Amino acid sequence: MNKKKDILEDFERYLNQHLPSTEGFHPHFQKALQEILQVGGKRFRPMLLLSVVDVCSPLLLQNSYPVALGLEMLHTYSLIHDDLPTMDDSNLRRGHPTLHITYDEVTAVLAGDALNTDAFYKISTAPLSAQTRIELVEVLAKNGGSGGMVIGQAIDCEFEDMVLKQDELEFLHLNKTAKLIAASLLMGAIICELDEKSKTAIYNFGLNLGLLFQIQDDIIDATLSEEEAGKPTKNDEHKNSFVNLLGLDGALKYKQKALEVLHMELEKLDENLAKRLDDIAKGYFNE
Ligand code: IPE
Ligand code: IPE
Ligand code: MG
Ligand code: MG
Ligand code: MG
Repeated sequence: MNKKKDILEDFERYLNQHLPSTEGFHPHFQKALQEILQVGGKRFRPMLLLSVVDVCSPLLLQNSYPVALGLEMLHTYSLIHDDLPTMDDSNLRRGHPTLHITYDEVTAVLAGDALNTDAFYKISTAPLSAQTRIELVEVLAKNGGSGGMVIGQAIDCEFEDMVLKQDELEFLHLNKTAKLIAASLLMGAIICELDEKSKTAIYNFGLNLGLLFQIQDDIIDATLSEEEAGKPTKNDEHKNSFVNLLGLDGALKYKQKALEVLHMELEKLDENLAKRLDDIAKGYFNE
């Protein structure tokens, strides 16, 4: 098994050597396409995928980097579009001006479109079996598209300034954030060809992890500065965020409860995998 830090460094190197590129004479499209991908981010989703592979089938780790990059490309597209004036209207992402600020909205929309489509090219051409690649494409499309992230984003925007009920709030956040995080783990499990029972346990753990991730993101909006977060904060006032609905104290309590559920889900996983994922969760949720 490799160290978490080494995998992150290797992934970062792979990403920088395999940035999506384009031909033609457009003055800045290629730069825009690479920019938000390159300037950082936690790489939470690729690290989940690569951690599963590292623990369960370490010999396949190298061949999984293109898949991890595809996943990060799709996530980055969702951020670029999320920041557009018509959605959250944010001028900063990953500590860097957003694309519609540096260039224009057309460039931001199309760079997002390209990353979304190119993500699937990257995965479908990875050095893995045809069956594995088909399953990876299926899972990412199912959880990142209209059955996941996109419907979550649509509800997030449609219901600004309208209060959702608790079950609706969970539906929103499960789709907007949790499904892509669960898919990241499941994609690792698919590469390792784990059995159905293990895959279900991993995906369910991922849904809980993803819900917790969005609670933490909402707490970040309420408690961190723009410099600390690398994106505008105090920006969720019109949103059905956990903090707006439950108050900061309520959201912190909800986070504690979600952490307890997460630990119960961890016990259903293979011991070595549980240890690694617990380590990632601890690192991120400052337990
Ligand atoms: C932000 O995702 C959007 C959410 C789904 C909460 P991340 O917090 O993973 O953003 P980066 O990738 O680190 O920039
Ligand atoms: C966006 O959620 C989730 C996505 C699917 C992109 P947020 O709007 O809360 O993400 P941030 O706070 O801008 O990163
Ligand atoms: Mg948003
Ligand atoms: Mg946003
Ligand atoms: Mg947020």
